[in-house]
Amino acid sequence: MVKIGFLFGTAALFPRLVLAYILPEACTGTCTNSHDPSIIRRASDGLYFRFSTGGKIAIHTAPDLTGPWTYKGAAVPRGSSINLRGNQDLWAPDISQVGDQYYLYYAVSTFGSQDSGIGLAKSYSMDVGTWTDVGSVGVISNRSKPYNAIDANLFVDYNSSSNNYRTNSTIVTPTYILTFGSWWNGLFQVQMNNNSNPTPTSIATTVANGSSAVYTQISYDSKDKAQEAAYLFKDGNYYYLFYSKGSCCGYDRDRPARGKEYRILVCRSTRATGGFADKTGKLCTNGGGTMVLESHDWVYGPGGQGVYRDPVFGPVLYYHYIDTRVGYSDGQKRFGWNKINFSSGWPVV
Ligand SMILES: *[C@@H]1O[C@H](CO)[C@@H](O)[C@H](O)[C@H]1NC(C)=O
Ligand SMILES: *[C@@H]1O[C@H](CO)[C@@H](O)[C@H](O)[C@H]1NC(C)=O
Ligand SMILES: *[C@@H]1O[C@H](CO)[C@@H](O)[C@H](O)[C@H]1NC(C)=O
Ligand SMILES: *[C@@H]1O[C@H](CO)[C@@H](O)[C@H](O)[C@H]1NC(C)=O
Ligand SMILES: *[C@@H]1O[C@H](CO)[C@@H](O)[C@H](O)[C@H]1NC(C)=O
Ligand SMILES: *[C@@H]1O[C@H](CO)[C@@H](O)[C@H](O)[C@H]1NC(C)=O
Repeated sequence: MVKIGFLFGTAALFPRLVLAYILPEACTGTCTNSHDPSIIRRASDGLYFRFSTGGKIAIHTAPDLTGPWTYKGAAVPRGSSINLRGNQDLWAPDISQVGDQYYLYYAVSTFGSQDSGIGLAKSYSMDVGTWTDVGSVGVISNRSKPYNAIDANLFVDYNSSSNNYRTNSTIVTPTYILTFGSWWNGLFQVQMNNNSNPTPTSIATTVANGSSAVYTQISYDSKDKAQEAAYLFKDGNYYYLFYSKGSCCGYDRDRPARGKEYRILVCRSTRATGGFADKTGKLCTNGGGTMVLESHDWVYGPGGQGVYRDPVFGPVLYYHYIDTRVGYSDGQKRFGWNKINFSSGWPVV
């Protein structure tokens, strides 16, 4: 065992086997300014909208997923009404259609702080100037919580027969599930009501936990194990919990050891609300996660991802990444996307 461990653990002699990944699909127009992207196609005219961290949630639009992307302005130009530090620097947007409105979840926080809150803005058209900030949805954190209330993702489960929040298996209304977090202690979930100012109707439960200890400080060790940017997606009979792991940011100042940068992993379950396990059967709550996309070729640190069932291309994985031929700063992060194939039961880029 020692010998095998030595041989396979020696990166210089045996470079880590990295699977072949296809390069990102084409992107034209403004493909930077795309940290933590979230995309949707407007139902009325098929225009694509891309939301991203920074610029009070920057909005870009394009006639096609490939572009050309054009900057339109800020979704929440006056900042969030959430009374926390960071309310003028909104993070990690998440767009979805709920009824005839668009819901844009965002996070208010500052780097390395657990004083965070998840907010919501709403619009009927998504155009700049049409957004109403609802403010806090009641998912907030401080040092008394195990989690950090950032990186929300709304999943509207129209088929909640296997949802463990329900005791009656009759499908009456969809359930609204907000997965979020976290850096601290992994990823969490609450069920939301569908009020005009939605609030949680359940306590937060853990859906993923990759930590060997509670994170109390930012170190390379915790950065490597940190899980963020959850995204729940249903295909066939499975709910897929995608997440980003590792060090997300500031690669120009402080580059992590190889393989510890952002990467995209997945667990799956037949329920939307728990039981997520990776390909080997390891529970996500016990550190599980099957690699979906990691650094390859000139693509570095892909993450902040989402999954979208595109009417033209089918299911796509989209994310931000660093193009190592250009530069490593956060401002140089680019919008990337690839088709993903679920036919094996696991998403393949
Ligand atoms: C949820 O709320 C939206 C907006 O208020 C509404 O259009 C939609 O029909 C509601 N969905 C359900 C299932 O009640
Ligand atoms: C954390 O927030 C709760 C309310 O959610 C509050 O009661 C408590 O005092 C806060 N704790 C700290 C340490 O700020
Ligand atoms: C709902 O889930 C059940 C069991 O997981 C599945 O058989 C059925 O096809 C699903 N229906 C829809 C509309 O997704
Ligand atoms: C489930 O809920 C529906 C609607 O409230 C009700 O009509 C039905 O009888 C319930 N089924 C069971 C098995 O309790
Ligand atoms: C995550 O796992 C670690 C290690 O087992 C544990 O100390 C911590 O309490 C867990 N956190 C949650 C929220 O379950
Ligand atoms: C998905 O992958 C399977 C093999 O793994 C292949 O047969 C199928 O054509 C692929 N689907 C698409 C749409 O590319």
